[in-house]
Amino acid sequence: MQKLLTWVDERFPLTATYKAHLAEYYAPKNFNFWYFFGSLALLVLVLQIVTGIFLTIHYKPDAAMAFASVEYIMRDVDWGWLMRYLHSTGASAFFIVVYLHMFRGLIYGSHRQPRELLWIFGVLIYLVLMGEAFFGYLLPWGQMSYWGAQVIVNLFAAVPFIGEDLSLWIRGDYVVSDATLNRFFAFHVIAFPLVLLGLVAAHLVALHEVGSNNPDGIEIKKLKGADGHPLDGIPFHPYYTVKDVLGVVVFLIVFCAILFFAPEMGGYFIEANNFIPADPYKTPEHIAPVWYFTPYYAILRAVPPMFGSQFPGVAAMGIAVLIFFALPWLDKSPVKSVRYRGPKFKIALAVFVVSFIALGILGVLPVTPLYTWLSRLFSVGFFAFFFLMPWYTRNDTYKAVPERVTDK
Ligand code: HEM
Repeated sequence: MQKLLTWVDERFPLTATYKAHLAEYYAPKNFNFWYFFGSLALLVLVLQIVTGIFLTIHYKPDAAMAFASVEYIMRDVDWGWLMRYLHSTGASAFFIVVYLHMFRGLIYGSHRQPRELLWIFGVLIYLVLMGEAFFGYLLPWGQMSYWGAQVIVNLFAAVPFIGEDLSLWIRGDYVVSDATLNRFFAFHVIAFPLVLLGLVAAHLVALHEVGSNNPDGIEIKKLKGADGHPLDGIPFHPYYTVKDVLGVVVFLIVFCAILFFAPEMGGYFIEANNFIPADPYKTPEHIAPVWYFTPYYAILRAVPPMFGSQFPGVAAMGIAVLIFFALPWLDKSPVKSVRYRGPKFKIALAVFVVSFIALGILGVLPVTPLYTWLSRLFSVGFFAFFFLMPWYTRNDTYKAVPERVTDK
């Protein structure tokens, strides 16, 4: 075995890579619960790719056959129901994990210098993931697939000057049709996954260049021992491989409980309307996207049209997603972690969390005057968190940050 390893090492940096990124990669010793979600996102990514491959074997990207081919997978293909539910439940799990992962970044200031690019790769991953989920949702060719795609693609028509042509170009037809299904299939199974994998690779390369942040927001590389390793660091393997295995086991228990007992989650993971084949002549009464898009959908609906144009709402929705890119530069606080930040940041963060969740709930509800006003209120809360950040982070009170990480 040693001879074989030497043979490989002379031709490929196997042992060197293992040492640099696992056995001798030093991570802060104070990682907590919030640090589970990066490795879990990787796990779900692999799960989606593997189950997606199995689904593609039997799925037919053809408007006349797509719906029936999914039913065939569910009823006749051996373990087909498992592959389909792993994939559809996996999509929601992906967003839960990624939202918690992003929230960790927010509370510990992981978007701050020197991790701006790592954060930007993360936001790009988030955007591509949204596209990936949107394209995938059309494939079962149910009523919600069809009308959801119709609504979202029509939004592009609101862009001034080029809008009409743009939405026609995306659809490949005047309405969502077989042509749309074919291209969405191409985007979902190859174009977007390739970009996603590339971005995840870049995300991890950036992470290993700068090193992980931690719940104290202290740069452990600043304080090194005689051996050249950070005093507050421990080798990733075996310490964090073992910790991550615990995360994986707990995650799989919860994931399997949902998968086997509530795979559609009462209509939140797969909507009831999507068990009805797409019908271009029958618009469902309530069209709402899947839960992970609903905060943005609520913002879209909260902004009234101007001069008969939907553009202000579309623009607000676009800004709501893109504003995450600006976070490293909006945050002017002298400390990173919420542990040492003052009350102003904590209040703003609470307003943001409540607004995001409330918008998510409002986005699935039908439109009423009260809900519209609530959506407006929470949209203001959402944007205030970002736009007022330079002000409240400059004028907050801060606690002194210790030299070394705190570790119970
Ligand atoms: C497919 C999706 C993603 C995967 C597989 C992924 C993977 C990872 C992994 C393995 C880590 C190191 C472990 C950890 O800190 O939990 C990490 C760290 C990080 N990720 Fe992601 N990530 C994804 C999406 C995102 C998104 C959407 C964002 C932000 C918009 C983001 C921002 C960050 C940041 C800032 C760090 C460093 C955190 C720290 O050191 O405190 N990631 N990511």
